[in-house]
Amino acid sequence: VASALAELVVVERRLAAQDVVVLDLAARDAGELPAWEPGAHLDIEPPGTGVVRQYSLCGDPADRRRYRIAVLSEATGRGGSAAMHRLRIGAPVAIRAIRNHFALEPADRYVFVAGGIGITPLVPMIGAAAAAGIPWELHYAGRGAASMAFASELAGEHPEGVTLYPKAEGAALDLAGVSARQPGAAMYCCGPARMLQAAEALAGPTEVHLERFVADATAEVDRDGDEPFDVHFAQSGITVRVAPGESILAVGEAAGADVFGSCLEGICGTCETRVIEGIPDHRDSVLNSADTGTMMICVSRAACRRLTLDA
Ligand code: FES
Repeated sequence: VASALAELVVVERRLAAQDVVVLDLAARDAGELPAWEPGAHLDIEPPGTGVVRQYSLCGDPADRRRYRIAVLSEATGRGGSAAMHRLRIGAPVAIRAIRNHFALEPADRYVFVAGGIGITPLVPMIGAAAAAGIPWELHYAGRGAASMAFASELAGEHPEGVTLYPKAEGAALDLAGVSARQPGAAMYCCGPARMLQAAEALAGPTEVHLERFVADATAEVDRDGDEPFDVHFAQSGITVRVAPGESILAVGEAAGADVFGSCLEGICGTCETRVIEGIPDHRDSVLNSADTGTMMICVSRAACRRLTLDA
């Protein structure tokens, strides 16, 4: 993380919907911030929580002096969203990293699908598609109009492109129907687990990209065949043995390796570590088997006897 990113301050705050606060963050000296692309998120440590949470950037990538995030107040959880909602203008916010696991790939046509607060990464994607003149449509489902952040702005700006599905008014999103009407379009979907599962299960030529902030409870991992393996942390100069049922992160941390995690469930990307040698067995919800250069060490294992990691 560039040092300019380490601590930002809240420079603007507004309610974007019931339970959703939009925060604009900037450097103390109002200097330029590292660039980002649609789909990126910030790893933020909500004050006083000791945990790291992910918030998609939903502002304008061309505005290099501000990052905008939207935070849903959640009744459950470890207090991260409540701490973020308490932030007022001038409050410091610790940023751990800026990452993008949900980049907008070039396509001839886009279908954006959002559920609730999942709208956030899609807002700048829509801006980019609209600016580039690429056809797109947004299907946005939520509990009710009052709880759907950015819904009225988006529908007002792009009346033909936006369809809203407020559940309270009886509107239901038919994902299969949407996809069937747009064969060949690239679909970008962010929302609750059930919506992502439905998107993943879509048949046909639709290419589906998902952003997951909740662990995929349906992903089947066969843990019975797990074998022990060795991990060498090249920077720390430490080698450990990871037994079945143990995590690389926990064993490495206990041995003094320079590793760091947050969700410990393979969804946040905080523990992503570069693989120098060996083949990772991805068990997380972020990377897939085509990714061999890095791995999430909180849940993933080795598909070989020994891994060398850049940590
Ligand atoms: S700590 Fe969140 S993905 Fe590993």
